[in-house]
Amino acid sequence: MIAEALWRAWERDGTTRPLGYLDDDASLLGRKLVDVPVVGPIAALFEISRDASVVVAIGDNRTRKRVFDQLASRGARFASVRHPSAIVAPDVRIGAGSMLCAGVIVNVGSVIGDDVILNTGTTVDHHSCLGDHVHLGPGVRMGGGVRVEEGALIGVGATVLPARQVGAWSVVGGGACVTERVAPHATAAGVPARELRRG
Ligand SMILES: CC(C)(COP(=O)(O)OP(=O)(O)OC[C@H]1O[C@@H](n2cnc3c(N)ncnc32)[C@H](O)[C@@H]1OP(=O)(O)O)[C@@H](O)C(=O)NCCC(=O)NCCS
Repeated sequence: MIAEALWRAWERDGTTRPLGYLDDDASLLGRKLVDVPVVGPIAALFEISRDASVVVAIGDNRTRKRVFDQLASRGARFASVRHPSAIVAPDVRIGAGSMLCAGVIVNVGSVIGDDVILNTGTTVDHHSCLGDHVHLGPGVRMGGGVRVEEGALIGVGATVLPARQVGAWSVVGGGACVTERVAPHATAAGVPARELRRG
């Protein structure tokens, strides 16, 4: 998905061209996916290019944060990637290394943190705030004024009613409807969403 978004953006405005994937699985070296080759392990970033920007395209939030923090501590530059079909209000702030997939909509006054994934067709309505390392799965619907704290995962097709809060490193199940606050580190699912466990 990341390569596809980059190619589409490259076709449209010629600003960002995918150079290659970095993957620690040595067996993937040289293999191509969406016409982009695996060029080496993550540690090889600075040998391959000092000027390139990087996006950590790992779905698991804790793993993505770990890799993001390692690269940041070594001075990596992060790109934020936006599929050309994404609709983003002009005043929206998007952090470093964040990725907006095809069909995403982010409405006015919203703030998206660093290293965030907004997956296919997700909508984030006005004045919402997403912390760093958040992942909204495909087709998530968020009302206005929602706050999603660092590292939370909202599963595919879930809905978050306006002005609700989703706590740090919590998980909201696919298809859930969040009608009240989800506590930090909780897993909640169902309609309305109920806490399955915490921690
Ligand atoms: C909610 C979720 C985190 C629970 O996963 P889990 O801890 O492995 O839970 P289990 O599969 O063991 O299920 C525990 C119980 O919750 C129920 N459950 C699981 N997911 C549910 C969901 N999305 N909605 C309603 N109930 C759910 C199960 O049926 C089970 O019920 P039971 O105890 O009565 O049998 C997971 O099912 C989920 O929805 N993850 C979202 C993944 C996603 O969309 N990621 C985006 C990737 S792009």
